[in-house]
Amino acid sequence: MPGGVSSPVRAFKSVGGQPIVFDRVKGPYAWDVDGNRYIDYVGSWGPAICGHAHPEVIAALQETLEKGTSFGAPCELENQLAQMVIDAVPSVEMVRFVNSGTEACMAVLRLMRAYTGRDKVIKFEGCYHGHADMFLVKAGSGVATLGLPDSPGVPRSTTANTLTAPYNDLEAVKELFAENPDAISGVILEPVVGNAGFITPEPGFLEGLRELTKENGSLLVFDEVMTGFRISYGGAQSRFGVTPDLTTMGKVIGGGLPVGAYGGRSEIMSMVSPAGPMYQAGTLSGNPLAMTAGIKTLELLKQEGTYERLEATTQRLIKGILEAAKQAGVAITGSNISAMFGFYLCEGPVSNFEEAKATNTDRFGKLHRAMLHRGVYLAPSAFEAGFTSLAHSDDDIDATLKAFQESFAEVA
Ligand SMILES: Cc1ncc(COP(=O)(O)O)c(C=O)c1O
Repeated sequence: MPGGVSSPVRAFKSVGGQPIVFDRVKGPYAWDVDGNRYIDYVGSWGPAICGHAHPEVIAALQETLEKGTSFGAPCELENQLAQMVIDAVPSVEMVRFVNSGTEACMAVLRLMRAYTGRDKVIKFEGCYHGHADMFLVKAGSGVATLGLPDSPGVPRSTTANTLTAPYNDLEAVKELFAENPDAISGVILEPVVGNAGFITPEPGFLEGLRELTKENGSLLVFDEVMTGFRISYGGAQSRFGVTPDLTTMGKVIGGGLPVGAYGGRSEIMSMVSPAGPMYQAGTLSGNPLAMTAGIKTLELLKQEGTYERLEATTQRLIKGILEAAKQAGVAITGSNISAMFGFYLCEGPVSNFEEAKATNTDRFGKLHRAMLHRGVYLAPSAFEAGFTSLAHSDDDIDATLKAFQESFAEVA
Protein backbone atom coordinates (compact mmCIF):
# COMPACT_ATOMS: atom_id res chain seq x y z
CA MET A 1 0.00 0.00 0.00
CA PRO A 2 1.53 3.36 -0.97
CA GLY A 3 2.87 4.93 2.25
CA GLY A 4 1.35 2.02 4.20
CA VAL A 5 -2.09 3.65 4.20
CA SER A 6 -5.33 3.68 2.23
CA SER A 7 -5.66 7.49 2.47
CA PRO A 8 -2.76 9.97 2.72
CA VAL A 9 -3.57 12.03 5.86
CA ARG A 10 -3.48 8.86 7.95
CA ALA A 11 0.27 8.67 7.39
CA PHE A 12 2.49 10.58 9.78
CA LYS A 13 4.62 12.16 7.06
CA SER A 14 4.07 15.72 8.23
CA VAL A 15 4.43 15.00 11.97
CA GLY A 16 7.18 12.38 11.81
CA GLY A 17 7.02 8.70 12.74
CA GLN A 18 4.85 5.91 11.44
CA PRO A 19 1.06 5.72 11.25
CA ILE A 20 -0.57 3.82 14.11
CA VAL A 21 -2.30 0.58 13.24
CA PHE A 22 -5.56 0.40 15.13
CA ASP A 23 -7.29 -2.70 16.37
CA ARG A 24 -10.62 -1.38 17.69
CA VAL A 25 -12.53 1.73 18.71
CA LYS A 26 -15.23 2.39 21.31
CA GLY A 27 -16.77 5.64 22.56
CA PRO A 28 -14.05 8.32 22.66
CA TYR A 29 -11.21 5.77 22.53
CA ALA A 30 -9.10 3.94 19.99
CA TRP A 31 -6.77 1.01 20.77
CA ASP A 32 -3.76 0.14 18.66
CA VAL A 33 -2.65 -3.41 17.87
CA ASP A 34 -0.17 -3.25 20.76
CA GLY A 35 -3.00 -2.61 23.20
CA ASN A 36 -2.29 1.12 23.80
CA ARG A 37 -5.38 3.25 24.36
CA TYR A 38 -5.79 6.75 22.96
CA ILE A 39 -8.39 9.44 23.58
CA ASP A 40 -9.38 10.08 19.98
CA TYR A 41 -10.02 13.55 18.53
CA VAL A 42 -10.04 12.37 14.91
CA GLY A 43 -13.23 10.31 15.18
CA SER A 44 -12.60 8.62 11.83
CA TRP A 45 -12.29 12.17 10.41
CA GLY A 46 -15.78 13.17 11.42
CA PRO A 47 -18.38 10.39 11.38
CA ALA A 48 -17.96 9.32 15.04
CA ILE A 49 -19.95 12.22 16.54
CA CYS A 50 -21.92 9.91 18.86
CA GLY A 51 -18.73 8.14 19.87
CA HIS A 52 -17.23 5.15 18.13
CA ALA A 53 -19.27 1.97 17.79
CA HIS A 54 -22.29 3.35 19.64
CA PRO A 55 -24.25 0.37 21.03
CA GLU A 56 -27.51 1.51 19.39
CA VAL A 57 -25.84 1.94 15.99
CA ILE A 58 -24.20 -1.48 16.29
CA ALA A 59 -27.48 -3.13 17.34
CA ALA A 60 -29.36 -1.54 14.43
CA LEU A 61 -26.62 -2.65 12.02
CA GLN A 62 -26.77 -6.22 13.33
CA GLU A 63 -30.50 -6.32 12.75
CA THR A 64 -30.17 -4.96 9.21
CA LEU A 65 -27.28 -7.29 8.46
CA GLU A 66 -29.63 -10.27 8.85
CA LYS A 67 -31.61 -8.98 5.88
CA GLY A 68 -28.60 -8.69 3.60
CA THR A 69 -25.96 -6.09 2.84
CA SER A 70 -26.95 -4.72 -0.53
CA PHE A 71 -30.06 -4.83 -2.69
CA GLY A 72 -28.97 -2.80 -5.72
CA ALA A 73 -32.62 -1.79 -5.70
CA PRO A 74 -34.69 0.72 -3.74
CA CYS A 75 -34.96 0.08 0.00
CA GLU A 76 -37.24 1.64 2.59
CA LEU A 77 -34.30 2.79 4.67
CA GLU A 78 -33.14 5.14 1.89
CA ASN A 79 -36.50 6.86 2.04
CA GLN A 80 -36.24 7.21 5.82
CA LEU A 81 -32.79 8.77 5.74
CA ALA A 82 -33.73 10.99 2.79
CA GLN A 83 -36.71 12.33 4.75
CA MET A 84 -34.53 12.97 7.80
CA VAL A 85 -32.00 14.90 5.71
CA ILE A 86 -34.73 16.91 3.96
CA ASP A 87 -36.36 17.75 7.31
CA ALA A 88 -33.06 18.86 8.83
CA VAL A 89 -31.11 20.71 6.14
CA PRO A 90 -32.75 23.96 4.98
CA SER A 91 -31.51 23.86 1.36
CA VAL A 92 -32.41 20.23 0.71
CA GLU A 93 -35.74 19.38 -0.94
CA MET A 94 -34.44 16.35 -2.83
CA VAL A 95 -31.39 14.22 -2.14
CA ARG A 96 -29.25 11.60 -3.92
CA PHE A 97 -27.13 9.18 -1.89
CA VAL A 98 -23.64 8.20 -3.02
CA ASN A 99 -20.75 6.43 -1.29
CA SER A 100 -18.28 9.15 -0.30
CA GLY A 101 -17.82 12.88 0.04
CA THR A 102 -15.61 12.88 -3.04
CA GLU A 103 -18.39 11.32 -5.08
CA ALA A 104 -20.93 13.83 -3.75
CA CYS A 105 -18.71 16.79 -4.71
CA MET A 106 -17.93 15.37 -8.17
CA ALA A 107 -21.62 14.92 -8.85
CA VAL A 108 -22.62 18.32 -7.52
CA LEU A 109 -20.14 20.00 -9.83
CA ARG A 110 -21.60 18.18 -12.82
CA LEU A 111 -25.04 19.26 -11.67
CA MET A 112 -23.93 22.91 -11.29
CA ARG A 113 -22.73 22.82 -14.89
CA ALA A 114 -25.74 20.96 -16.20
CA TYR A 115 -28.19 23.33 -14.57
CA THR A 116 -26.50 26.62 -15.49
CA GLY A 117 -24.99 25.58 -18.83
CA ARG A 118 -21.73 27.15 -17.63
CA ASP A 119 -18.38 25.38 -17.12
CA LYS A 120 -16.40 27.42 -14.61
CA VAL A 121 -16.49 27.03 -10.83
CA ILE A 122 -15.03 29.12 -8.00
CA LYS A 123 -13.45 27.33 -5.04
CA PHE A 124 -11.40 28.68 -2.15
CA GLU A 125 -7.73 28.15 -1.31
CA GLY A 126 -7.34 25.51 1.39
CA CYS A 127 -10.85 24.09 0.97
CA TYR A 128 -10.99 20.37 0.18
CA HIS A 129 -13.82 18.89 -1.84
CA GLY A 130 -12.49 15.37 -2.32
CA HIS A 131 -9.91 14.16 -4.80
CA ALA A 132 -11.68 14.61 -8.15
CA ASP A 133 -9.51 16.24 -10.84
CA MET A 134 -11.25 19.60 -11.03
CA PHE A 135 -10.99 20.21 -7.28
CA LEU A 136 -7.26 19.50 -6.96
CA VAL A 137 -6.36 23.15 -7.26
CA LYS A 138 -5.00 24.84 -4.12
CA ALA A 139 -6.75 22.09 -2.16
CA GLY A 140 -6.68 21.53 1.58
CA SER A 141 -6.49 18.32 3.62
CA GLY A 142 -3.72 15.90 2.57
CA VAL A 143 -2.72 18.12 -0.34
CA ALA A 144 -2.02 20.96 2.11
CA THR A 145 -0.59 18.69 4.82
CA LEU A 146 1.97 17.20 2.46
CA GLY A 147 2.65 20.58 0.81
CA LEU A 148 1.86 19.11 -2.61
CA PRO A 149 1.57 21.25 -5.72
CA ASP A 150 -1.52 20.58 -7.78
CA SER A 151 -1.42 16.85 -8.47
CA PRO A 152 0.31 15.35 -11.50
CA GLY A 153 -2.15 13.43 -13.62
CA VAL A 154 -4.70 16.21 -13.54
CA PRO A 155 -4.99 17.61 -17.09
CA ARG A 156 -4.64 21.38 -17.40
CA SER A 157 -7.73 21.38 -19.54
CA THR A 158 -9.71 19.98 -16.58
CA THR A 159 -8.60 22.57 -14.04
CA ALA A 160 -8.73 25.47 -16.51
CA ASN A 161 -12.32 25.90 -15.41
CA THR A 162 -11.51 25.96 -11.69
CA LEU A 163 -11.03 29.50 -10.40
CA THR A 164 -9.73 30.11 -6.87
CA ALA A 165 -10.02 32.90 -4.33
CA PRO A 166 -8.74 33.36 -0.78
CA TYR A 167 -11.29 32.34 1.87
CA ASN A 168 -13.16 35.23 3.51
CA ASP A 169 -12.30 37.52 0.55
CA LEU A 170 -15.51 38.73 -1.09
CA GLU A 171 -13.69 41.28 -3.25
CA ALA A 172 -11.65 38.52 -4.91
CA VAL A 173 -14.87 36.66 -5.73
CA LYS A 174 -16.42 39.82 -7.14
CA GLU A 175 -13.41 40.26 -9.42
CA LEU A 176 -13.65 36.68 -10.68
CA PHE A 177 -17.30 37.23 -11.57
CA ALA A 178 -16.42 40.49 -13.35
CA GLU A 179 -13.61 38.82 -15.31
CA ASN A 180 -15.76 35.83 -16.32
CA PRO A 181 -19.19 37.19 -17.20
CA ASP A 182 -21.92 34.53 -17.63
CA ALA A 183 -19.31 31.77 -17.41
CA ILE A 184 -19.35 30.76 -13.73
CA SER A 185 -21.70 27.94 -12.79
CA GLY A 186 -21.29 28.57 -9.10
CA VAL A 187 -19.25 28.93 -5.94
CA ILE A 188 -18.45 25.92 -3.74
CA LEU A 189 -16.99 26.20 -0.26
CA GLU A 190 -16.68 24.66 3.16
CA PRO A 191 -18.93 27.03 5.13
CA VAL A 192 -16.57 26.45 8.06
CA VAL A 193 -13.16 25.26 6.89
CA GLY A 194 -11.86 22.06 8.45
CA ASN A 195 -9.30 21.05 5.85
CA ALA A 196 -6.83 23.90 6.29
CA GLY A 197 -6.86 23.67 10.07
CA PHE A 198 -9.97 25.40 11.37
CA ILE A 199 -11.15 28.68 9.81
CA THR A 200 -14.51 30.29 10.48
CA PRO A 201 -16.39 32.53 8.06
CA GLU A 202 -16.13 36.24 8.92
CA PRO A 203 -19.45 38.01 9.52
CA GLY A 204 -21.03 38.81 6.16
CA PHE A 205 -18.88 36.39 4.11
CA LEU A 206 -21.49 33.67 3.60
CA GLU A 207 -24.25 36.27 3.16
CA GLY A 208 -22.09 38.13 0.61
CA LEU A 209 -21.54 34.95 -1.40
CA ARG A 210 -25.29 34.32 -1.37
CA GLU A 211 -25.90 37.79 -2.84
CA LEU A 212 -23.08 37.62 -5.39
CA THR A 213 -24.12 34.22 -6.76
CA LYS A 214 -27.73 35.38 -7.06
CA GLU A 215 -26.75 38.58 -8.86
CA ASN A 216 -24.67 36.60 -11.34
CA GLY A 217 -27.12 33.78 -12.05
CA SER A 218 -24.77 31.26 -10.39
CA LEU A 219 -25.32 28.60 -7.77
CA LEU A 220 -24.06 28.64 -4.20
CA VAL A 221 -22.95 25.24 -2.93
CA PHE A 222 -22.04 24.46 0.66
CA ASP A 223 -19.79 21.44 1.01
CA GLU A 224 -21.08 20.20 4.34
CA VAL A 225 -19.35 16.81 4.19
CA MET A 226 -17.55 17.80 7.40
CA THR A 227 -19.92 20.37 8.92
CA GLY A 228 -23.24 18.63 8.16
CA PHE A 229 -24.97 17.47 11.36
CA ARG A 230 -21.85 18.57 13.27
CA ILE A 231 -21.98 22.38 13.36
CA SER A 232 -25.65 21.97 14.18
CA TYR A 233 -28.32 19.39 13.30
CA GLY A 234 -29.07 21.35 10.13
CA GLY A 235 -25.39 21.96 9.40
CA ALA A 236 -23.55 25.26 9.01
CA GLN A 237 -26.36 26.63 6.83
CA SER A 238 -28.77 26.28 9.70
CA ARG A 239 -26.34 27.74 12.24
CA PHE A 240 -25.46 30.77 10.08
CA GLY A 241 -28.90 31.26 8.51
CA VAL A 242 -27.63 31.28 4.93
CA THR A 243 -29.32 28.84 2.55
CA PRO A 244 -27.28 27.65 -0.43
CA ASP A 245 -28.79 26.22 -3.62
CA LEU A 246 -27.07 22.84 -3.24
CA THR A 247 -25.36 20.98 -0.41
CA THR A 248 -22.98 18.05 -0.25
CA MET A 249 -22.85 15.78 2.78
CA GLY A 250 -20.96 12.73 4.04
CA LYS A 251 -19.25 11.50 7.21
CA VAL A 252 -21.92 11.90 9.97
CA ILE A 253 -24.83 10.90 7.71
CA GLY A 254 -23.12 7.54 7.21
CA GLY A 255 -22.60 6.98 10.94
CA GLY A 256 -19.23 5.34 10.22
CA LEU A 257 -20.17 3.52 7.02
CA PRO A 258 -19.34 4.84 3.54
CA VAL A 259 -22.00 7.40 2.58
CA GLY A 260 -22.11 10.69 0.75
CA ALA A 261 -25.07 12.71 -0.48
CA TYR A 262 -25.94 15.78 -2.45
CA GLY A 263 -29.17 17.66 -2.41
CA GLY A 264 -30.87 20.97 -2.94
CA ARG A 265 -33.84 22.66 -4.51
CA SER A 266 -36.15 20.25 -6.35
CA GLU A 267 -35.98 22.31 -9.50
CA ILE A 268 -32.19 21.76 -9.67
CA MET A 269 -32.15 18.17 -8.35
CA SER A 270 -34.75 17.18 -10.95
CA MET A 271 -31.92 17.44 -13.48
CA VAL A 272 -30.40 14.27 -11.99
CA SER A 273 -30.93 10.98 -13.82
CA PRO A 274 -33.44 9.30 -14.11
CA ALA A 275 -35.65 12.32 -13.28
CA GLY A 276 -33.54 14.41 -15.66
CA PRO A 277 -30.67 14.17 -18.13
CA MET A 278 -27.61 14.57 -15.85
CA TYR A 279 -26.11 11.11 -15.42
CA GLN A 280 -24.85 9.86 -12.08
CA ALA A 281 -25.12 6.35 -10.64
CA GLY A 282 -23.69 3.91 -8.06
CA THR A 283 -23.84 0.13 -7.50
CA LEU A 284 -23.79 0.32 -3.69
CA SER A 285 -25.44 3.73 -3.29
CA GLY A 286 -28.16 3.77 -0.61
CA ASN A 287 -27.31 0.27 0.61
CA PRO A 288 -29.25 -0.80 3.72
CA LEU A 289 -26.29 -1.05 6.07
CA ALA A 290 -25.01 2.47 5.40
CA MET A 291 -28.54 3.88 5.58
CA THR A 292 -29.13 2.13 8.93
CA ALA A 293 -25.99 3.61 10.51
CA GLY A 294 -26.97 7.05 9.20
CA ILE A 295 -30.55 6.86 10.45
CA LYS A 296 -29.56 5.68 13.93
CA THR A 297 -26.84 8.33 14.21
CA LEU A 298 -29.24 11.13 13.26
CA GLU A 299 -31.83 9.77 15.71
CA LEU A 300 -29.25 9.96 18.49
CA LEU A 301 -28.22 13.48 17.47
CA LYS A 302 -31.81 14.67 17.39
CA GLN A 303 -32.25 14.10 21.11
CA GLU A 304 -32.72 17.10 23.37
CA GLY A 305 -29.56 18.94 24.46
CA THR A 306 -27.16 17.07 22.20
CA TYR A 307 -25.57 20.07 20.53
CA GLU A 308 -25.41 22.06 23.77
CA ARG A 309 -23.39 19.19 25.25
CA LEU A 310 -21.11 19.00 22.23
CA GLU A 311 -20.54 22.77 22.35
CA ALA A 312 -19.78 22.77 26.10
CA THR A 313 -17.33 19.86 25.84
CA THR A 314 -15.52 21.37 22.88
CA GLN A 315 -15.35 24.85 24.39
CA ARG A 316 -13.83 23.51 27.58
CA LEU A 317 -11.29 21.62 25.51
CA ILE A 318 -10.19 24.50 23.27
CA LYS A 319 -10.08 27.00 26.16
CA GLY A 320 -7.87 24.60 28.09
CA ILE A 321 -5.59 24.06 25.08
CA LEU A 322 -5.13 27.81 24.57
CA GLU A 323 -4.41 28.33 28.28
CA ALA A 324 -1.94 25.45 28.39
CA ALA A 325 -0.01 26.87 25.43
CA LYS A 326 0.05 30.36 26.88
CA GLN A 327 1.31 29.07 30.22
CA ALA A 328 4.17 27.38 28.41
CA GLY A 329 4.89 30.52 26.37
CA VAL A 330 3.86 28.90 23.09
CA ALA A 331 2.21 31.17 20.49
CA ILE A 332 -1.27 29.89 19.66
CA THR A 333 -4.61 30.89 18.21
CA GLY A 334 -7.66 28.66 18.06
CA SER A 335 -11.41 28.32 18.35
CA ASN A 336 -14.35 25.96 18.03
CA ILE A 337 -17.88 25.86 16.69
CA SER A 338 -19.98 23.10 18.13
CA ALA A 339 -18.08 19.80 17.97
CA MET A 340 -15.34 21.01 15.64
CA PHE A 341 -12.18 22.79 16.79
CA GLY A 342 -8.70 23.73 15.73
CA PHE A 343 -5.61 25.68 16.69
CA TYR A 344 -2.57 27.10 14.94
CA LEU A 345 0.82 27.48 16.59
CA CYS A 346 1.22 31.15 15.64
CA GLU A 347 -0.12 34.49 16.89
CA GLY A 348 -3.09 34.71 14.50
CA PRO A 349 -5.74 35.66 13.76
CA VAL A 350 -6.12 33.23 10.85
CA SER A 351 -8.84 33.97 8.31
CA ASN A 352 -7.50 32.22 5.23
CA PHE A 353 -5.08 29.51 4.12
CA GLU A 354 -2.15 31.92 3.51
CA GLU A 355 -2.37 33.08 7.12
CA ALA A 356 -2.75 29.48 8.31
CA LYS A 357 0.64 28.67 6.82
CA ALA A 358 2.24 30.79 9.57
CA THR A 359 1.60 27.90 11.99
CA ASN A 360 4.78 26.30 13.33
CA THR A 361 4.52 22.87 11.67
CA ASP A 362 7.78 21.69 13.20
CA ARG A 363 6.53 22.40 16.68
CA PHE A 364 3.17 20.83 15.82
CA GLY A 365 4.98 17.60 14.84
CA LYS A 366 6.72 17.55 18.23
CA LEU A 367 3.47 18.35 20.03
CA HIS A 368 1.71 15.56 18.15
CA ARG A 369 4.32 13.02 19.24
CA ALA A 370 4.27 14.28 22.84
CA MET A 371 0.47 13.94 22.96
CA LEU A 372 0.55 10.49 21.40
CA HIS A 373 3.06 9.41 24.01
CA ARG A 374 0.51 10.54 26.64
CA GLY A 375 -2.37 8.64 25.05
CA VAL A 376 -4.08 11.38 23.03
CA TYR A 377 -4.62 10.94 19.30
CA LEU A 378 -4.80 14.23 17.38
CA ALA A 379 -5.07 14.47 13.61
CA PRO A 380 -1.52 13.93 12.31
CA SER A 381 -1.51 17.28 10.53
CA ALA A 382 -1.29 20.96 11.45
CA PHE A 383 -3.93 21.57 8.77
CA GLU A 384 -6.85 19.43 9.92
CA ALA A 385 -9.66 20.28 12.34
CA GLY A 386 -10.27 18.23 15.47
CA PHE A 387 -13.54 16.51 16.32
CA THR A 388 -15.20 15.81 19.64
CA SER A 389 -18.11 13.48 20.29
CA LEU A 390 -20.96 12.88 22.70
CA ALA A 391 -18.80 10.16 24.24
CA HIS A 392 -16.01 12.51 25.40
CA SER A 393 -16.58 12.88 29.15
CA ASP A 394 -15.32 15.59 31.51
CA ASP A 395 -12.70 13.11 32.71
CA ASP A 396 -11.50 12.58 29.13
CA ILE A 397 -11.18 16.35 28.65
CA ASP A 398 -9.32 16.69 31.98
CA ALA A 399 -6.90 13.94 31.00
CA THR A 400 -6.43 15.53 27.57
CA LEU A 401 -5.71 18.98 29.03
CA LYS A 402 -3.19 17.53 31.47
CA ALA A 403 -1.45 15.92 28.49
CA PHE A 404 -1.51 19.25 26.64
CA GLN A 405 0.02 21.07 29.63
CA GLU A 406 2.89 18.60 29.84
CA SER A 407 3.34 18.45 26.06
CA PHE A 408 3.39 22.22 25.53
CA ALA A 409 6.01 22.52 28.29
CA GLU A 410 8.05 19.87 26.45
CA VAL A 411 7.91 21.59 23.03
CA ALA A 412 8.14 25.23 24.19
C1 LIG B 1 -15.41 19.21 3.15
C2 LIG B 1 -15.06 17.88 2.55
N1 LIG B 1 -15.51 17.58 1.31
C3 LIG B 1 -15.26 16.39 0.74
C4 LIG B 1 -14.50 15.44 1.39
C5 LIG B 1 -14.25 14.12 0.73
O1 LIG B 1 -14.93 13.12 1.39
P1 LIG B 1 -14.47 11.57 1.29
O2 LIG B 1 -13.17 11.48 2.02
O3 LIG B 1 -15.58 10.82 1.95
O4 LIG B 1 -14.33 11.25 -0.15
C6 LIG B 1 -14.02 15.70 2.67
C7 LIG B 1 -13.18 14.70 3.37
O5 LIG B 1 -12.53 14.96 4.35
C8 LIG B 1 -14.31 16.94 3.27
O6 LIG B 1 -13.87 17.25 4.50
